[in-house]
Amino acid sequence: MKKIEDLKDLEEKKILIRLDLNVPLKNGYITDTTRIEKILPTLKFLIKKNCYIVIISHIGRPKGRVVKHLSMRPVCDYLSKKLEKKIKLVEDDILKIDPKLIFKGHNEKIVMLENIRFYEQEEENDEKFAKILSKFGDIFVNDAFSCSHREHASVAKITYFLPSYCGLQMNIEVSALKKVTSEIERPITCIVGGSKISTKISVLKNLIPKFENVIIVGGMANNILEYKGYKIGKSIKENNCKEIIDEIFSLAKINNCNIFYPIDVSVGKNFNDSSKTKNLSNIEDDDYILDIGPKTIDEIVSIIKKSKTILWNGPAGYFENSNFAVGSHKIANTIVKSKGKIFSVVGGGDTIAVLNEVNILNQFDFVSTAGGAFLEYLEGKEIPGIRALN
Ligand code: 3PG
Repeated sequence: MKKIEDLKDLEEKKILIRLDLNVPLKNGYITDTTRIEKILPTLKFLIKKNCYIVIISHIGRPKGRVVKHLSMRPVCDYLSKKLEKKIKLVEDDILKIDPKLIFKGHNEKIVMLENIRFYEQEEENDEKFAKILSKFGDIFVNDAFSCSHREHASVAKITYFLPSYCGLQMNIEVSALKKVTSEIERPITCIVGGSKISTKISVLKNLIPKFENVIIVGGMANNILEYKGYKIGKSIKENNCKEIIDEIFSLAKINNCNIFYPIDVSVGKNFNDSSKTKNLSNIEDDDYILDIGPKTIDEIVSIIKKSKTILWNGPAGYFENSNFAVGSHKIANTIVKSKGKIFSVVGGGDTIAVLNEVNILNQFDFVSTAGGAFLEYLEGKEIPGIRALN
């Protein structure tokens, strides 16, 4: 990838930069700022070079509609404070405004476009839309490794229209992951959790041949439990997964990979409830599975202790309610206590948030801001955002 730091003449250039500022929000407040802190060096570098900066990002999955609570506003305000510079949030429809006037009336050189996923053309990787976007810059920079697995207009198609470079953080993440995967020590355990089941379930089968253990927790584990014939009540799940789970288990057998999924769970009657441990056979129709249970935790601890490398993406439960953060915290503490004996790599917005809660994020050997992109990188798949830069 060509790096923006290597470009000689940046003075007064308009840089259109794709960032992943998809941070967790609660009632309009950012609950974890890690993804923002990580891209500050790139923005500071561009500011120092006297560039004009146009930031593009998304938050959540508004699916092409304007969704008020998914506005970039809180992120824009936070970033302004961190950089000690006013950042104008461009709320007007970018399909209707004149890109040349974007800095008009704003006496700083940095603006942010409103959530790019408010436009359906973004996820369609629409060529016309990418062309319009390209009018906002002279140079395109991708510093969003964590959404580079998405073949979207502001990640992929945009590179057809502008000279394109990677940002500082993107380069750090890709180089580190390259090193990690080429020097990896066995046995390797990959822990996959979180709520983005559709993204991750298809990745799993490609991970199986590479690792000794795959531990499935979080939302995806509900699909496995249902497949195994257990009731899962009202828990989140993905539909139509039977075929893919069949494949996961048969691949595990062929490749001698140990697939481990919960043997007991913690449930609640709603997301704010206290937790109740249940055996798999006792789950009721109105239960939500929101964490792994104590027997499951013990098994996972034992697998971790026998591993040399741990790759972890996705919390084990609904950590936003501390009653259901127990599994994730226990996994995290076990890994950290084995520091020196186990090489640990952790990735993903929610996983970072759960580790920050217990203040141990910096004790992992490598932290990737990426969740889905991190898993796809481990799969060995070509990442569209990286391919586009190449
Ligand atoms: C992430 O949080 O992993 C990235 O921002 C990508 O989000 P997505 O899964 O909604 O594409």
